[in-house]
Amino acid sequence: MIDYQLLKLTHLTCVVLSITGFTLRAGLMLAGSSLLRRRWVRTLPHFVDSLLFFSGLGLAYNLHQYPGTSPWLTAKLMALVLYVVFGAVALRGCNLPRRLTALILAYASFAYIVHTAVTKNPIPWS
Ligand code: HEM
Repeated sequence: MIDYQLLKLTHLTCVVLSITGFTLRAGLMLAGSSLLRRRWVRTLPHFVDSLLFFSGLGLAYNLHQYPGTSPWLTAKLMALVLYVVFGAVALRGCNLPRRLTALILAYASFAYIVHTAVTKNPIPWS
């Protein structure tokens, strides 16, 4: 059985790596850099995000909190889908206004995910 604190440390480290990596790639996108097409630049985020997801699953399993029965976790997973979709459009969308809009929405989704995780409340203003 993996130690809970180690799992949480892994999860939080991946949270920081995920948003830092996304911000760096968004910077490359805005600069029109060809680095964005490098294989390692495209594959490394998948590794971090998979670790983020599976460490999150491990935490949920340990806490006996499950999507569908735990409102904050359900909301968090729905926001995660939005973060992935907006993130993909921000980096690969067809024009700059669309990319910038998607970038703002991706950051908003990420902020909501963190807020929900910390407060364990799906409604931020309550
Ligand atoms: C972008 C994706 C994610 C972000 C930004 C994120 C962020 C966070 C943060 C900041 C915490 C710490 C909350 C605290 O200690 O107060 C946390 C905890 C947690 N996360 Fe995530 N998370 C993400 C994905 C996931 C996924 C996919 C799952 C489950 C499938 C998950 C399940 C959990 C659980 C159960 C906790 C509670 C740990 C505890 O209170 O001890 N997370 N998450």
